Amino acid sequence: MKGIVLAGGTGTRLRPLTNLINKHLLPVGKYPMIHYSIQKLKNLGITDIILVTGKQSAKLYMKYLGSGEEHGVRMTYCMQEKPGGIAQALLLAEEHVQIGEKMLVLLGDNLFHDSLKEEVSYFKQSGDGALVMLKKVADPRRYGVPVFQKEDAKRIAYIEEKPVKPQSSYSVTGIYMYDDKVFDVIREIKPSGRGELEITDVNNVYARSGKLTYGELEGWWIDAGTHESLYEATRMIWEEEDTWRS
Ligand code: TTP
Repeated sequence: MKGIVLAGGTGTRLRPLTNLINKHLLPVGKYPMIHYSIQKLKNLGITDIILVTGKQSAKLYMKYLGSGEEHGVRMTYCMQEKPGGIAQALLLAEEHVQIGEKMLVLLGDNLFHDSLKEEVSYFKQSGDGALVMLKKVADPRRYGVPVFQKEDAKRIAYIEEKPVKPQSSYSVTGIYMYDDKVFDVIREIKPSGRGELEITDVNNVYARSGKLTYGELEGWWIDAGTHESLYEATRMIWEEEDTWRS
């Protein structure tokens, strides 16, 4: 299984910090944000990792991670020329994924407690399809919200983006697992109103064909994309400081 970390984007909501440096290199506790995704993958035994970054700070990623040797992984780098959406960033990894190989995709600004061990081993053994990790949230209206199938509650019928009347109390997090068909799916979808290839559209293609399953995060989960949430992530990571060494 390949690990893919998406660390491009603009980081508008974290300006002015991101005027200087890419979001995923900002400090969270003792390490830059990117450290935590790499550690999660390594702890799962996923040591072949593709990192997709933009032009901003590209050299600094290589300075921190290098070949991956010091971190116990093997790094491959892809360059996203312009932020064209999460799905567009993922498509750039295609040439490094083998035919029939599955992948665990992490958004680099999603920090979380769970190990994902059970979900990864379930997904490795299951047939083709995709799996998204969900988290119960207080206000689902701010997120992508899953609507579960009536006939098989283990599957997602579709995902609604920022619904006014959410049909469940879960958010789709930035933790995804895909089979190798995902690249064909990305080529199928059209850019959204904001001109991006949206990962929710990709997930909805799987959902419509009955191939989108899910797992639920039990521990904390933070999308560290705003100043407030970055502060909160730093606090949570600090409490678990011992568990994050390379
Ligand atoms: P977002 O938080 O949706 O976008 P952003 O990082 O550009 O921030 P902002 O909305 O404040 O401008 O991105 C979620 C994650 O996906 C983040 O970890 C970066 C990654 N990403 C890419 O790798 N490429 C992209 O083109 C986009 C839009 C996001």
